[in-house]
Amino acid sequence: MPPTQQPIQLIHGDCLEVLPDLETDHFDLVVTSPPYNLGIVYNRFKDTAPRDEFLGWCKQWASEIKRVMKEDGSFFLNIGAAPKNPLLPHQLLLALTDGESPLFVLQNTFHWIKSITLELRTEKPVSAGHFKPINSKRFVNDCHEFVFHLTKTGSIPLDRRTAGVPYQDKSNISRWAHTGGHDKRCRGNNWFIPYETIKSREKNRPHPATFPIALVEQCVRIHGKGTQTRLLDPFVGIGTSALAAKNQQLAEFVGIDLDQDYLDIARQRLADGSHR
Ligand SMILES: C[S@@+](CC[C@H](N)C(=O)[O-])C[C@H]1O[C@@H](n2cnc3c(N)ncnc32)[C@H](O)[C@@H]1O
Repeated sequence: MPPTQQPIQLIHGDCLEVLPDLETDHFDLVVTSPPYNLGIVYNRFKDTAPRDEFLGWCKQWASEIKRVMKEDGSFFLNIGAAPKNPLLPHQLLLALTDGESPLFVLQNTFHWIKSITLELRTEKPVSAGHFKPINSKRFVNDCHEFVFHLTKTGSIPLDRRTAGVPYQDKSNISRWAHTGGHDKRCRGNNWFIPYETIKSREKNRPHPATFPIALVEQCVRIHGKGTQTRLLDPFVGIGTSALAAKNQQLAEFVGIDLDQDYLDIARQRLADGSHR
């Protein structure tokens, strides 16, 4: 039975079983972060499949995403690597975009920067953001993840201005015709989006692998459908993308997770109004 129409739905189950019940050509946007196959300890899911098996599984759910996504939809796929597993994001990307019948076209690659140090000419270096330090002589701290922007055709127009940043040098606004007089330029593909500072991980972020609400909000802005957006997250965890959908008053949100405990937390976060 297809789920009934409500603005925000959280569905408990295996996305491979739930996705086939969802309508074809329905969602404008999919933003998700699947399990990374890097041995992350989740409540119920075992994140340690052999690589080929993992990639085959990803192709299965990605085919369903393609089916339920509109022709002009965008699929933002967030995935990180680990120092000893640096190729994983690229292997997954190739599995979805290469071969005889590729599922998607890679339209943009974004870098979600979690932490950065800026050495501005006039000031002392400024460091911002958070990351998990690595104790190693050969690997450096990992301060970014990928957000692959996948579409059906590779030519979906985006709203670069709404997702953009103000000009540093305001004289550019009148100098360049393409600005149309607006004080916004394309932000580019490096998104510095730090995690919110929290006091207690167990209480404030009780999940091993969340992304920030602002990351999802940025995907919504750049896809450019505003409040008409119908958003899907087949690996919704503790509901970060649902909170983004609520913040941005999106037309519809569907989230799926295997783990009932995570969904209970997601519901609590939605009810609390703690939207960060
Ligand atoms: C990387 S986490 C997503 C976290 C989410 N973005 C958030 O901010 O809370 C991946 C999630 O996928 C869920 N999961 C694993 N296998 C699944 C499956 N077959 N169907 C649905 N959810 C699954 C796990 O329980 C986990 O919560």
